[in-house]
Amino acid sequence: MPATLNRIAKEGVNGSAMMPIIQGVGRAGIEISALLRGAVFRDALGVAGSENIQGEQQQKIDVLSDDIFLDEMRSTGYVCAVGSEEQEELLVIDEYADADWLVLVDPLDGSSNLDIDGPVGTIFSVVKRKTANSESPHVSDTLQSGREVVAAGYVLYGPSLMLVCSVGEGVHGYTFNPAVARFELSHPDMRIPTSGGYYSVNEANADKWLDGVGDKLESMKSTTGLGMRYVGSMVADMHRTLLKGGIFLYPADEKNRSGKLRLLYEAIPMGFLMEKAGGKAYMSAGVAVLDVEPNDLHQRVPVYLGSASATDSLLG
Ligand code: AHG
Ligand code: MN
Ligand code: MN
Repeated sequence: MPATLNRIAKEGVNGSAMMPIIQGVGRAGIEISALLRGAVFRDALGVAGSENIQGEQQQKIDVLSDDIFLDEMRSTGYVCAVGSEEQEELLVIDEYADADWLVLVDPLDGSSNLDIDGPVGTIFSVVKRKTANSESPHVSDTLQSGREVVAAGYVLYGPSLMLVCSVGEGVHGYTFNPAVARFELSHPDMRIPTSGGYYSVNEANADKWLDGVGDKLESMKSTTGLGMRYVGSMVADMHRTLLKGGIFLYPADEKNRSGKLRLLYEAIPMGFLMEKAGGKAYMSAGVAVLDVEPNDLHQRVPVYLGSASATDSLLG
C-alpha cells in the first residue's frame, strides 16, 4: 500500500493540523493541472487584460488558478485568510475567520512558460495567526519571518504532477498517480546533493546585476565547474536544484533593485524547503532568507538557494 498525503498527519507536532490544508493544496493542484491541459481548447491562454499589484500583466490562467486555490483553501475549513501574489489585499475567508491558519500563495509560478507548454508551478506556505481568533485576521498576521513558517511546498506541473512539501520534518515529494487519482509518496526525505549539479540564473541580466554578483559567478563557475540549466519557472528550477544539486539565484539588478522574486510567495517557502533539505537559502552573503522580517505583503528580495558548497562558493 503506497503512502499518500495522509501520512503527513503523523509528521512532527504540526502534521495533523497541516494535513487537511496540504490535501487542499493537492486538490487545487489537480484542478489547476486539468485547467492547464485543457487551456488551449477553452481559449484560456493569453493575457487577462488586467495587472496585478506588482504591475505585471495577469494571464487568464493566473486569475483562474488564484480562484481555484482560494476555493480549495476555503473548503478545508481551517484557513482564515489567504495572501496571494495576484491579490492586492489579504483575502479573509469570512466563514472561517476564526480559524488558526493563514496561507500565502503564488498560484501560478513561471507564467512566461504557459504559451510554450513549459513547466509551471504553485508555491505555498502556512503560518499561524498572531491576532486573537475572535478578531478578523489582519495583514500583520502574514508578516512573519520564515522561522515562523509551519509548512511550505510547491506543486510542479511537469510531465507528471508533483507535490513537494515539508511540515518541518524533512522534505517529501508525492507524485499524482492518475490510475488511482491520488498523490503517492515517490520522493521520501529529499536531500540536496552536497556537490555537483547546476547553476541556474537568467544570465542575460549579468551586466546589470548589483553587488558584484557577475564577478562572483564567473569565479564560482571556474572553481566548481558546475553545468548550467535555466527554465525561468522558479518551481522547475528549484526542483532540479533540490534533486541534482547546485544553486538557483535571482540577484538584484538595475531594473529590480530589491530583486524580482517575492519574499512571502516565493523566497520564504522555497528557502524553508531548501533548509529542510539540508541546503542554504540566502538573500545576501550571511543573511538567511528565513531571518528576513517582512514589512510588506508584496516585498521582493534577491534569492540564492542551493547546496552549502555552491552557496559558499558564490557568496563566500
Ligand atoms: P511568476 O510567473 O509567478 O510571476 O514568477 C516568475 C518568476 C519565477 O518563476 C522565475 O524564477 C522568474 O520569474 C524568471 O524571471 P526572468 O524571466 O526574469 O528570468
Ligand atoms: Mn512566481
Ligand atoms: Mn505567479
